[in-house]
Amino acid sequence: MIYFYLILININFAFSLKWGCTSTCLSLKYICFKGNNDTFNQNLLKKCYDDTKTTLRSLRLDFFKFNNSEIYDFNFLKANSYGFSIHDSYFDDILVNISGVKLSNITFLRTTLKKLTRSDLLPSTTKFLNLQYNQIEYIDSKFFTKFTKLHSVSLQINKIKKINALTFNSDSFKKINFSHNLLEQLDEIRFLEKPNEPELAILLNDNYLNKMPLIKGKIESIYRFVLGYQQKSKILSSQYNMLLNDEQDKKLAIEHFYVDFDMFSTNITNEFKCFVNSNRIRIETYSFFSIDVQSPLFKNIIIHTKGVQNESSIKNYIDLCKQDSILTLKLTKNYFAAMSKISLSDTFWHNTCNKYLDPKEFKNFPITTKNTATNIIKDFNNQNFTPEIRIYLKRKDSLMNDFIDFSIDNQGEVVLIFTSFFLVILLAFCLANQAVIKNKVIKK
Ligand SMILES: *[C@@H]1O[C@H](CO)[C@@H](O)[C@H](O)[C@H]1NC(C)=O
Ligand SMILES: *[C@@H]1O[C@H](CO)[C@@H](O)[C@H](O)[C@H]1NC(C)=O
Ligand SMILES: *[C@@H]1O[C@H](CO)[C@@H](O)[C@H](O)[C@H]1NC(C)=O
Ligand SMILES: *[C@@H]1O[C@H](CO)[C@@H](O)[C@H](O)[C@H]1NC(C)=O
Ligand SMILES: *[C@@H]1O[C@H](CO)[C@@H](O)[C@H](O)[C@H]1NC(C)=O
Ligand SMILES: *[C@@H]1O[C@H](CO)[C@@H](O)[C@H](O)[C@H]1NC(C)=O
Ligand SMILES: *[C@@H]1O[C@H](CO)[C@@H](O)[C@H](O)[C@H]1NC(C)=O
Repeated sequence: MIYFYLILININFAFSLKWGCTSTCLSLKYICFKGNNDTFNQNLLKKCYDDTKTTLRSLRLDFFKFNNSEIYDFNFLKANSYGFSIHDSYFDDILVNISGVKLSNITFLRTTLKKLTRSDLLPSTTKFLNLQYNQIEYIDSKFFTKFTKLHSVSLQINKIKKINALTFNSDSFKKINFSHNLLEQLDEIRFLEKPNEPELAILLNDNYLNKMPLIKGKIESIYRFVLGYQQKSKILSSQYNMLLNDEQDKKLAIEHFYVDFDMFSTNITNEFKCFVNSNRIRIETYSFFSIDVQSPLFKNIIIHTKGVQNESSIKNYIDLCKQDSILTLKLTKNYFAAMSKISLSDTFWHNTCNKYLDPKEFKNFPITTKNTATNIIKDFNNQNFTPEIRIYLKRKDSLMNDFIDFSIDNQGEVVLIFTSFFLVILLAFCLANQAVIKNKVIKK
C-alpha cells in the first residue's frame, strides 16, 4: 500500500518536475531525485520532499548542476535522517548546508567536487564520509577536526597531490583510504584523540609518495598500514624516507604492513632494513603483494631464510599464500630482524640507520653485526611465536600441487576414491573374465 502511494508520488514528481524518483533507489526510508543534468531547483525539491508522507531517512540527488556561487540550505531534512548523498553531479565546493541535521552518512560520488574546506556546512555527527571518485585536489588541514564521531573517510580515486597535514579528532576513527590519488606529499597525519587502534587502517596504495607521512598525536598503534605501490618513487631507497615516527620516547606499532613486491628491485634495500630494525616503529608482519616466485628478489629472500634457519623452521618466518588471486608473501618481524642483523655492517648501522633509532635507547639497542648466525638462531629458539600467525608454505599453483594439497586436506576421500576405482577395475576384470569363460563354454 505504502509502495503504491510512493509510486503515485513518483509519477506526480515526474510530471511536475521533469525529474522524479527512480524505482531502483526508492524504498520506504530512502528517496532519490534524479535530474537530467538540469540546474538544481531547491524550492521544487523542498516542496516534493515535504509532500512525501513517509519516514524518509536518507536523501539522494543524482545528475544535477549546482550553481557554484550559492549555498543550498538543506536543514529542512527530517530530524531523524541519517543519510545525504549527491551522485554524478556538478559543483566545485561543498554547497549544501546540512550542518543542523544529525546525519551519519554523507556521500559525494562521481561529482566534480574539487576541494574540502567547508566542514562548517556539514554536521559534527558525521560518521562515514564517502568521497570516492571525485576531482578533489585540496583538503584543508583542519577539515576533519570537527567530526568527533568520525569512523571512516573514503578518498580513493581523486586528484589529491599534496597535503601538509591532516588532523583527526575522533575516538572511533578507523579508516582513511587515499588509494589511487596523485599524492606526492603527505607530511603528517595527526590524531587529537586516540583512534580505534585495533581496527585502524591507513591505505595509501597507488600514489607517488617519496616519503612516509609522520604519524603524530595520541596514537600508539595501527592495525593495517598499506604503502602498496608508489609510482616513480624512491621511498624505499632514499635516506630517512621511511620514518613514520620521529617523536622522542614514543613507539608506533603496526600489526600488518603491506608493500608491493615491485617496489623493490632485486633485493631488500638498506633503507628498508633500517626501517625494520627501527626502535621507534615496531611492525609485527610484513606482507608483500604480487609476488613473483621466479624473481631474483624472491630467491634472495628465501635463500636468506635458509641461511638463517633449517628447512623445517622456515615456516616460522615465511608464509606464502594467495589472497584474491594475488600471491602474497608474509614475513614476520623475526625474519627481518635476522636478515638485517646479519647483513648490516656496524658502520652502516651507525651512520645510516641512526634516525630510525630513539637516541635515548640507542646504547641499549641490541643490534651489532657481531651476532653470529648461531647466536641469532639461539635468540629465535627462545622466542614464542604468536599462534595466530598461521603458517603454511604453498608451492606455486599447478595441477599436481593442487592435487597434493587436496589429498592432504581430504585424505579420507582420496583413499575412498582410489579404493572405489580399484574395486570398479576389479569388478570389470571379473565380468570380462566371466564373459570369456562363457564364450569358451558356448564355443564348446
Ligand atoms: C548527464 O551528463 C553526462 C555527461 O554529459 C551523461 O553521461 C549522463 O548520461 C547525463 N545524465 C542524464 C540523466 O541526463
Ligand atoms: C548563480 O547564482 C548567482 C548568485 O545567486 C546568480 O547571480 C547567477 O545568475 C546564477 N547562475 C546561474 C547559471 O544560474
Ligand atoms: C548553515 O545552517 C546553519 C543552521 O541552520 C546556520 O546556523 C548557518 O549559518 C548556515 N551556514 C551558512 C554558511 O549558511
Ligand atoms: C553508512 O555507511 C557505512 C559505510 O559505508 C555503511 O556500512 C552503513 O551501512 C551506512 N549506514 C546506513 C544507515 O546506511
Ligand atoms: C581503498 O580503495 C581502493 C580503491 O578503490 C579499494 O580497492 C580498496 O578496497 C579500499 N580499501 C578499503 C579497506 O576500503
Ligand atoms: C641480497 O641481500 C642479501 C643480504 O641482505 C645478501 O646476502 C645477498 O648477497 C644480496 N643479493 C644480491 C644479488 O645482491
Ligand atoms: C631444525 O630446527 C628445529 C627447531 O628449530 C629442530 O627441532 C630440528 O632438529 C632442526 N633440524 C635439523 C635438520 O637441523
